Amino acid sequence: MDMTWTEQLSVGNAVIDSDHKNLIGLVNYIACVAEARDSFELSRALKLFKGCMNHHQVNEEQFAQALNFPFAAHKVAHQNMEAEIDFTGIDLTRYEHEKNSIATIFVMEHYAQFLWDCLIKHITEEDMPMKAVLQTYPYDYKIDETAYMQLGVVRANQPQRRTA
Ligand SMILES: [Fe+2]
Repeated sequence: MDMTWTEQLSVGNAVIDSDHKNLIGLVNYIACVAEARDSFELSRALKLFKGCMNHHQVNEEQFAQALNFPFAAHKVAHQNMEAEIDFTGIDLTRYEHEKNSIATIFVMEHYAQFLWDCLIKHITEEDMPMKAVLQTYPYDYKIDETAYMQLGVVRANQPQRRTA
């Protein structure tokens, strides 16, 4: 299985593409440790993947808010993907106790493919619709306080201006 990031997967922004590349790198690492049946490293890699996914979700939400792009359905999709990953991950925790069970071996062998499928679905179905908007900004566009102010976005922790 060829799990590499290609230009075709670009959503037109360096921050989001970089998140996707990191996630793809972790899926490849998960494939390696699963193949080596290294349950300790697998559990560490899964935690890293989840952390990376959470960080990515925050980034995408910030971009969507700043660019005034609807995010409600995207957020639900992120939550569903997280739940699916957690649910399948439970099977992997059995590995320590049931190393030789057919179910555990099956999950170990297919988990990286499952994560790859989730990621590709996420990028092509949920993120790609943002590409047309993202491409109207420079590729290295980042969300920072200045960008929020320029875009007139009021952040939750910002004091509201009084109206006369
Ligand atoms: Fe994404």
